[in-house]
Amino acid sequence: MTTHPDVATPRQATAPQVDPTGLGAIDRSAARVNVEDKAMINARADVNQLLPLKYTWAWEKYLAGCNNHWMPTEVSMQADLALWKSPDGLTADERHAIKRNLGFFATSESLVANNLVLAVYRHLTNPECRQYLLRQAFEEAVHTHTFEYICESLGLDEGEMFNMYREVPSITDKAAWALQFTEHLADPEFTTGTPDNDRQFLRDLIAFYVVFEGMWFYTGFAQILSFGRRDKMVGIAEQYQYILRDESIHLNFGIDCINQIKIENPHLWTDRFQAEARTMLAEGCELEIAYGRDVMPRGILGLNSDLCDQYMRFVTNRRCGQLGLAPVFPHTENPFPWMSEAMDLKKEKNFFETRVIEYQNGGTLDWD
Ligand SMILES: [Fe+2]
Ligand SMILES: [Fe+2]
Repeated sequence: MTTHPDVATPRQATAPQVDPTGLGAIDRSAARVNVEDKAMINARADVNQLLPLKYTWAWEKYLAGCNNHWMPTEVSMQADLALWKSPDGLTADERHAIKRNLGFFATSESLVANNLVLAVYRHLTNPECRQYLLRQAFEEAVHTHTFEYICESLGLDEGEMFNMYREVPSITDKAAWALQFTEHLADPEFTTGTPDNDRQFLRDLIAFYVVFEGMWFYTGFAQILSFGRRDKMVGIAEQYQYILRDESIHLNFGIDCINQIKIENPHLWTDRFQAEARTMLAEGCELEIAYGRDVMPRGILGLNSDLCDQYMRFVTNRRCGQLGLAPVFPHTENPFPWMSEAMDLKKEKNFFETRVIEYQNGGTLDWD
């Protein structure tokens, strides 16, 4: 996906500020929307009018998300269930790793969705970006559904899975770190419009889109896809591949949003704030390294926590580059080059291509 914002010059704020919710009284005498007045934050154009489009990158991601539609229940869990029930199918370390991995994702998808709907949506005041957020919110629901379906299919203890984010310290630490950046934004009294508050919003976008979805999810995907590459837990691995495909668009949307806000509000992106953003990514990396040691204390399937540490440092540097920040770590090679293959959006199975065509002709489907 492209990550280049469309607009290369700072926006001239000519129009007066408008209601950012789109739910206030209708201004009957307002002029028609001028595309130049559309902005990422602090709306100056009616947020209820999608057209004229300004940010084609947001609209393209909305279309890409729709074309990638999938449901977890379309993936068979028979082989996974047989392996999970077989006493010799998996080692104790492998079972531990799978459960810790699922336990992290089971509630993380809801944390991301709640931040999206209750915080990000309120403050991102552009209709084409909101159109994408609505699509993304649905995808997060599909991802949460996936973990419900996995728990049900394998007969996992749902209390254990959905409470890990409170009961397993290395998971709690990650969730608590991210939540500190959203608690102010979800406050109904909070509004953007001052440099301090606009930076609060940027911090939230960095914490959730870049660290949570763009760093932590990626090591989680690498762990499960390693099982799939060895023909173990192939149903879960297939579902993770579809989640990864969705998440790579979520991440790129978040990066494009941050970079576009920077272009329109260059006064926010000070040296001091850039240093703070790099510290956030470094902290996210540290938390993931601690969690990785918890998931794989001894190493499994050619995967060990040292390789996961290296992968996290590689991903951290890559995210810095995407945000225009200096890398946090010295040059680090990608220890899992096969991950880029797994997230290549063009590589679709025949089964998947067939189904996408069906969805694109959704009018003929039986919805009962
Ligand atoms: Fe997700
Ligand atoms: Fe996501």
